[in-house]
Order: sequence, then structure tokens, then C-alpha cells
Amino acid sequence: MSRKIQIFDTTLRDGEQVPGSKLRPNEKLEIVRELDLLGVDIIELGFPCSSPDDFKVFKLVGGEVKRPVFCALSRAVESDIKMAGEALAYVKHGRIHTGIGTSPSHIKYKFNSDEDKIIERAVAAVKYAKTFVEEVEFYAEDAGRSDNVFLARIFEKVIAAGATVLNVPDTTGYCLPSQYGAKIKYLYENVKGIHKVVVATHCHNDLGLATANTIAGIENGAGQVECTINGVGERAGNTSLEEVAMIIKQHELGLHCNIVSERLTNISDLVSNKLNIAVQPNKAIVGKNAFSHSSGIHQDGVIKHRETYEIIDPAEVGAGQSQIILTARSGRAALDFAAKKTGHTLNQNHLQLVYDKFIHVADQEKNISYDRLSELIKTVI
Ligand code: KIV
Ligand code: ZN
Repeated sequence: MSRKIQIFDTTLRDGEQVPGSKLRPNEKLEIVRELDLLGVDIIELGFPCSSPDDFKVFKLVGGEVKRPVFCALSRAVESDIKMAGEALAYVKHGRIHTGIGTSPSHIKYKFNSDEDKIIERAVAAVKYAKTFVEEVEFYAEDAGRSDNVFLARIFEKVIAAGATVLNVPDTTGYCLPSQYGAKIKYLYENVKGIHKVVVATHCHNDLGLATANTIAGIENGAGQVECTINGVGERAGNTSLEEVAMIIKQHELGLHCNIVSERLTNISDLVSNKLNIAVQPNKAIVGKNAFSHSSGIHQDGVIKHRETYEIIDPAEVGAGQSQIILTARSGRAALDFAAKKTGHTLNQNHLQLVYDKFIHVADQEKNISYDRLSELIKTVI
């Protein structure tokens, strides 16, 4: 039986923390509409105590979008939790996401505290959050660098206090996949009551391992993935939603999720425009070059049989068709293919003549458009 992975999108909270990317409530609403159509299960809308806009957006969105669970972030601070609870009064399904740092450096330097006092604050925060909503997610900030024995202790206490989801953030993107996977496994084996709640992954990308760590987490039992569109987020960003969704789809992991993959390119463009953050061309799944082929050997292979060099049909992620880009690395197979697209059928002799001319022009002009090729053909035949 396939296990369902809940997709928790935090583009509008963790993702929006990127400098210069602050969104107004109506812009968040536009993205929420798309996240809803994409099939995201939980949408983290903001941090209500951080600014009036972050509070207002719950009312605006809650009045229109009813299906997903909407999540409000708070620290383990009474006034934060109260504002999160008040903001969630406007949505149909609400969740408070509260928590506290659990690693040695957070406990010592951020809080000048000790493990027992951190547990007390965590338990009090969860109990208070429960007075507003049934669904309370507890995050152990910097869990990636926290001691597993302490994590197990604090998680056990917050479950007893009513937490329904345990979030295990690798806040600094430090873990290796084997370490992060082992952490989730350890928690399943050592936390009383853990099977009654959902365990969430929340991985940052400082070492480029966010997606790999997330997959290690769900392979070891986690049931919720926290991620952002295009992997946007502070510093090197968060786990990218589109990567996780397509890994779950492409591999036989005994897992599934509700993401409508055909909508991924569209939402990637929307988020990129709204946050004013360009997507790198070689970004997996949604980069401009993710389905482009420019070297002769690859072009020949793709033209003969697309799967030779593509593991995903671009149509499956809403990216249209594979692209054969004409460059100085292209060969005769690509030229013949592009010539046909522009209405020219070349015999072997003409193809060789066009190729001889093309290769000199391509050395000067980098990419040759199909229109430019058509002009070249006309000068040769
Ligand atoms: O990275 C992190 O630890 C967070 C928490 C606030 C969940 O974003
Ligand atoms: Zn984060």
C-alpha cells in the first residue's frame, strides 16, 4: 500500500524571508490560488505577529480559499501564539506552528538557558496553542545539529501536551542524508506516542542537500515534507517542492502525494515573478534548460527516442516539449530535425552543405534560432 506524503508549502513564509521579496497580501492570495490548484495540503501563510500584512493575509485568503490547511508561525512566546490563533480564526482549517531552538548553540547562546527550561517553554507553548486550534505543529529549531536524545525527550513531552505534528528542521542545512535519515529513524524508535502524530521534514540547502535529506527523511517514515516553490528561502533556500514531487512520482518508493505535476512550471514562473527571483537555467524540473539539448550526441539520442536522455516528459510538469537548441556542438541529426520543423526536407547532399555553413556561423553566434537556420538553408539550396 502506497503511503501518502503531505506537502506543506512554506513559500509564503520561509520562502518570502529572502531579502527584497516581501509580498503584499493580494500577491500572496494570487499564489495561494495556484498552490490550491497544485494540490498542496498545507500552506504556511505567514508569521502573524511579525507585521500587520502578515496578520491581514489570513483574513483575505481565508475568505476565499477553503480546502487547504493554513498554518501560522509563532515562536514559543505567548503573544506570538495569541496573534497566530487570532489570525487563524479567519480560515476554515487552521494550524499553529510553534517551537523553539533545541541545539546546544540555541540553548546556550540564543536563550542562555538549559534543556529542562527549554522543555518547559515548549510544553507551555503547545498547551497554549491548543486553546486556539486542534492542529498544533511543534518545530525543534536546528534539530539537524541537536542531540538526538534531547530531541526525543522534548518531542515526547510536546506530544503529551497535544502536538499533532513534529517538525525536525535542519535549519542550517548541515546534515548529510544518512545523518538526517538516521535522525528520523531514531525518533521513530525512541519517542513514545510518535506513531500517533505526523513527523515533518524541513531542510535547508546550505550544502545543496535539502532535497536529498528530505527524501532520506520520508524513506525513514516522515509523513510531511516542508518545501518551497523553486526552493526559494533564506541563504541557499529550502527544499524545492517540484523536486520532491517529481522524485516521489518517478521512483517506486511506495509513496505518493497530491501534487498536480502539470501545474509546476506555471507556479514556478508565478513565484519567480512575484518574488523577483530568477530561476537558474539548470534548475531541476523548472529551469529553462531542464528539457533542452544542445550537444550533438544527446540531440541525436533524443530525436531517435526521447527517453534516451530524459527521465521526465516535459509535458508532465507543464513545460511543453523537449527543446533541440542549435549550437556549434549540434550535429547533422539536429540540423535535419530543425530543418524539417521549418518546412525544409534536405537530402544527404544538401544536409552536408548546410552543415558546413552552419558550423562556421554557429562558432560566431552561439545559439542559432530555427528562423536563422531557415535563412541559411535558403542560401545553400
Ligand atoms: O528552518 C527552520 O528551523 C524554520 C522553523 C521556524 C520551522 O524555518
Ligand atoms: Zn526554515
